[in-house]
Amino acid sequence: MAKLTEISWNDFEALPLETKKPYLENPGLSDTPYHTLFAQQFDRHLLERLAALSNRIRFMAKSKEGSLYLKSLLPHKRAMLYFSQPSSRTFLSHLNACQILGLTTSSVRDSATSSEAKGESKTDTIRTFSSYVDMIIMRTPEKGLAEQMAWELSNSDRPIPIINAGSGKDQHPTQALLDIYTLLRSFETKGGLRNRTVTFCGDLLRGRTVRSLSYLLTNFENIRQVFVAPPQLQVPEDVLEILKEKGVSYAISDNLREAVTVSDAVYMTRIQDEWDKDKGESARIDTSRFKFGAEELKLLPKDGVILHPLPRRDEIAICCDHDPRAMYWRQMRNGMWIRAALIAMTFGFEKQIMCFGA
Ligand code: CP
Repeated sequence: MAKLTEISWNDFEALPLETKKPYLENPGLSDTPYHTLFAQQFDRHLLERLAALSNRIRFMAKSKEGSLYLKSLLPHKRAMLYFSQPSSRTFLSHLNACQILGLTTSSVRDSATSSEAKGESKTDTIRTFSSYVDMIIMRTPEKGLAEQMAWELSNSDRPIPIINAGSGKDQHPTQALLDIYTLLRSFETKGGLRNRTVTFCGDLLRGRTVRSLSYLLTNFENIRQVFVAPPQLQVPEDVLEILKEKGVSYAISDNLREAVTVSDAVYMTRIQDEWDKDKGESARIDTSRFKFGAEELKLLPKDGVILHPLPRRDEIAICCDHDPRAMYWRQMRNGMWIRAALIAMTFGFEKQIMCFGA
C-alpha cells in the first residue's frame, strides 16, 4: 500500500487527485480513509458503506442503549476543530458527531485567537494542535492547505488524521458525503440513485460543494448534471473536464424553470460574495432568475427533491420549506450522521457498530 511517508510533498502535490487515494488510506484498514481531503477518495462502494454506517448510527442514537454503546467507542480519543472561516452546520455537526462517539473536543474558531497572530507558521500551528489531540477537523480559506497539513502530520512523529471541512473554493468533501447520503435516502424507495437528472443552480463558480458533489455523482449510473447560473458564475471548466473524461451527460443553462421540469433533484446554492475581488462585484450580477420559489415548486416533478448546502439567503423562498420535497433541513441533520460514520470509520470502528445487536 502507498504511504504518505514515502513520497515528497512536491511529488504528492503534483499527482492527479484520483491517484492520491491510496496514500490517504488507513494503513491498517484497506479501502478506509485515514485523511479525508477531497471527493476523489470516495468510490461508490465506500459511499454505500458510509451510508449504511450512518443509517446504523442514526438508528442506534435513538435508544439509550445504542447511544451509550456509541459513546463508549472513542472516549480515549480527542478531536480538534480548527475553523478559520465562519461555519454553523459543518462545525456543529462535526462537534455533535464527535460527541455521539464519545470523543472529547476542543476548538479554535478564529486564527486571530491562536498564536498564528504572533507569526507562527501554519505547519507549526497544526503540529501544535496535533500534540494534544488524535484528529484535526479543519476549515480554511486556503486551497490545498488541508492536504499539505495531512502530508506534514503523516511525516511527523505524531501522525493523526485530518478531515477537510471545507478548503478554499475547491473542495468540501464531507458536505458532498451528506448530499449523497440525502439523495440515497430520498430515492431509496423510488428506484435508487440512478437514471436521474440533478440540476445545480446559483454560484457554481465559487461554490466548493458543487465541485465535490458533481464528482461524487459520477460514481452513480446515468446521472445527468445540469448547471444553471448567470454566465459570470457558471461552473468552472475543471468540473466539466471530469464529466467529459467519465462520459457523464451534462448541460449548461440559464433557464431554471426549464431545468426544474426535468429534474429529480435541484441543488440550490447561494451567491458566494465573500470571494468577490472587488467589493459589490456579485451585487452587479442579475441573479433574479436563479431563485427557487412557488412557481418552480409547481414545475418540480412530484418525486423531485430540493437540496441546498445552506446557509441560504433568498435563493429558496420560505414558502417552499413545508413542501415534502424540500430536503434541505433533513440534509443538514444528515451531516451529523454521515460525519459520525466517517469519524467512526477513520478510527476503525465500522465493524463493531455494524455488528451491534447482531
Ligand atoms: N454547508 C456549510 O458548509 O454550512 P456552514 O458554512 O454553516 O458550515
